[in-house]
Amino acid sequence: MLFEPFEFGRITLRNRLVMAPMTRNRATADHVPTAIMATYYAQRASMGLIVTEGVAPSPDGAGYPRIPGLYNAEQVAAWQPITQAVHDAGGHIFAQLMHTGRASHVANLPAGARVVSSAAVALPDAIYTDSQGPQPASPPHALEASEIAAVVQEFVAAARHAMDAGFDGIELHAANGYLIEQFLNANLNTRTDAYGGSAANRNRFALEVAIATAEAIGADRVGIRISPHGAFNAMGAFEGVDEQFVALATELGALKLAYLHLVNHASMGAPALPATLPAQLKAAFDGVFIASGGLDRAQAEALLTSGAADLVAFGRPALANPDLVERLRSGAPLNGPDFATFYTPGEAGYTDYPVLTP
Ligand SMILES: Cc1cc2nc3c(=O)[nH]c(=O)nc-3n(C[C@H](O)[C@H](O)[C@H](O)COP(=O)(O)O)c2cc1C
Repeated sequence: MLFEPFEFGRITLRNRLVMAPMTRNRATADHVPTAIMATYYAQRASMGLIVTEGVAPSPDGAGYPRIPGLYNAEQVAAWQPITQAVHDAGGHIFAQLMHTGRASHVANLPAGARVVSSAAVALPDAIYTDSQGPQPASPPHALEASEIAAVVQEFVAAARHAMDAGFDGIELHAANGYLIEQFLNANLNTRTDAYGGSAANRNRFALEVAIATAEAIGADRVGIRISPHGAFNAMGAFEGVDEQFVALATELGALKLAYLHLVNHASMGAPALPATLPAQLKAAFDGVFIASGGLDRAQAEALLTSGAADLVAFGRPALANPDLVERLRSGAPLNGPDFATFYTPGEAGYTDYPVLTP
């Protein structure tokens, strides 16, 4: 089933393979996309759907160096040739909106922007900066309840900008310890207002962002990515995590979103997901379900044929193989990824992975 087309909202994907979102830090220091990004994504347009790297929805959300944004006109204009190149090659592309929250350093932010989170607790990890190398993450300002509506509106503005830039939709990054998960996760979110203190309250920010962006651009253009039990960015499991995420999936499904994208980071060193959780989440979410994390062709095919997933996402294999679809189809060996060039500027390790020669 991997290579069969898939009806997907207003578009038809030519196969069921999704390129997982991967931060590559090839934008400018001012978070403007660059021409080599058009080459990179167009090279991978044979994937049924591309989900871009994390894209900052606002200046406050741009906590890593050289990640692209969608918060000003210059960025929108710079994305247009990228989405066009993917469409010209027959592909489809969603922008992943990633507000870094406390996974941030002020040196990476535009002037006047600030580091924010659900709680005033610094990320206990280093953040890379171009000017000073790795630095302790900047301490965040805990958003006041009265400030949260404005942050939701930043996501709405970025979703509209994504449409102006020619994207087919957006993916809300509610995984991997960025701002939305900083609200979802009880280990960090100890708020006592309407955004913390209970599962429903911790889910509130994610749902407000999903509702508002869906109203703005259409629910069928809004997907969401979650990583319950993920350890990245000092998250980790907490009491009631499964029940909370199942409730979240139920409410997201009621919104008729484009998809729910589940991260399984066991392949990246995180603890394994409870065996029954993916099926519980899929059953709770009324819509398209994407599985990801450490998949090979046989595992991906099995997920589709068993009905455990509707689409399957590949990260590192798509990074290292522009022609991944053709290689999976033919059984050709895969290039391995070069970890040293994951986040470095320029074309090396970015647009120069070899393709099969006929
Ligand atoms: C270089 C790199 C950058 C990544 N950046 C992001 C990101 O921006 N957003 C996200 O949701 N996941 C990100 N991930 C996680 C991947 O989307 C994916 O979940 C992970 O690589 C596991 O899948 P794989 O085994 O197919 O690579 C990144 C992974 C890699 C290797």
